[in-house]
Amino acid sequence: MSGPLSMTTGIASDAGTPVAQGALAFLLARRSHPARTLGLPVPDRAALEPLLTAAARSPDHGKLVPWRFAVLQRAALERLAELARARGAVLGLAPERIEKGVRQYADAHLVVAVVASPKASDKIPVIEQHLSAGAVCLALLNAALAAGWGANWLTGWATHDPEFCAEGLGLAPGEFVAGLIHIGTPTMTPAERPRPDLDQIVTWVDR
Ligand SMILES: Cc1cc2nc3c(=O)[nH]c(=O)nc-3n(C[C@H](O)[C@H](O)[C@H](O)COP(=O)(O)O)c2cc1C
Repeated sequence: MSGPLSMTTGIASDAGTPVAQGALAFLLARRSHPARTLGLPVPDRAALEPLLTAAARSPDHGKLVPWRFAVLQRAALERLAELARARGAVLGLAPERIEKGVRQYADAHLVVAVVASPKASDKIPVIEQHLSAGAVCLALLNAALAAGWGANWLTGWATHDPEFCAEGLGLAPGEFVAGLIHIGTPTMTPAERPRPDLDQIVTWVDR
């Protein structure tokens, strides 16, 4: 069956159409841009909201919405850079490791923190809620890339520091940072990255 995507039924009936071919071509060629290479401008609220909407349209068993977004703008990023510096010292990290963590915030113009926020459920295992948060990260990354922005999914040592997450990002107990999605204007074409050899990772199971 071919034809345009049905917005009313949600049935993807456009296999083989230019829309589907374009989407697959995008997925086959997509590449992240190193965060340090992202420049200005960054998406404003009007440009970012469709990307967040696309990301929130991610598989979510039980419709629990076990994730949320914190859109980190310049003032917040500067505050987080200072907090990373302070936390790195408290944790006794090597100076170069602290500096790398600080620069991730200090040099960024826009970062969306995807916060995994698991919900109490008798039916949906927490691991599935965590996987859904990862799916949201990739969906946001791909939405940004598809819209022509450069983007990069990072974490870094500070996101694994509970104090940094609670004080800096307002995370509640049980929440964690699934990803910091840096978004900005591409300033270079990233080199291709080696990709897995399908023969090494695919088993065709036929009985
Ligand atoms: C959960 C997660 C965390 C990541 N954290 C970092 C990071 O802190 N620093 C880094 O250089 N790359 C990190 N990466 C790797 C990059 O986001 C990405 O995989 C790499 O740049 C290649 O991206 P591409 O396949 O979209 O081209 C992380 C990836 C994932 C999935």
